[in-house]
Amino acid sequence: MTLPTREQAQRLMQEAERLNPGPWARHSWYVAEAARAIAQRHPGLEPESTKIAQQSVMGYLHDIGRRAGKTAMRHTLDGYAFLMEQGFETAARLCITHVFPIKDLQAVACQWDCSAAETAFLEAFLAGIEFDLYDRLIQLCDAIALPTGFCLMEKRLIDVALRHGVNDRSIERWQAFLGIQQAFEADIGCSIYTLLPGVVENTFGFESSMLPPAE
Ligand SMILES: [Fe+2]
Repeated sequence: MTLPTREQAQRLMQEAERLNPGPWARHSWYVAEAARAIAQRHPGLEPESTKIAQQSVMGYLHDIGRRAGKTAMRHTLDGYAFLMEQGFETAARLCITHVFPIKDLQAVACQWDCSAAETAFLEAFLAGIEFDLYDRLIQLCDAIALPTGFCLMEKRLIDVALRHGVNDRSIERWQAFLGIQQAFEADIGCSIYTLLPGVVENTFGFESSMLPPAE
């Protein structure tokens, strides 16, 4: 696996956030933490501490293409090119695969701002790979992490729809995300939400101040 260490990933993210500050960096941190928590429970993801850390790093760097500025689909290619230059091929792959719960260029949520050549590259890239558990894990974690914390997947999907709109593939995308969640839950034997602290508070805005006073 060609991945940076956690410390290297942190430095890369600090630099990226300086170049393009925004909520995407906090979102990335939560994706990393979700990946760590779910990987720890997953029988297919080998629960060794080094491997768990690797899955966390993959989550942390999946949106690093945002270092190049405010872009839409281009952030996948920018992240891929940047991490390939650094020699981190495994992490680079996730920069592309995380936006494709369905392996189809027509089925994405964000605006298409890639050139014809870049589109051809993406098409060939996707045609040349089979999604593995790591791709699926980061797709899942991307869909349950707001910049403020972990949340119900349905909330995150609506959050994306409110910001980017919907299209005629949206329902299919949402079903694909829910299917990925179900597959992981079948493997880990519990709800993913039981592994993620703060889901209720972050999804429903429930604060402890709303609790009745203790008797
Ligand atoms: Fe993301």
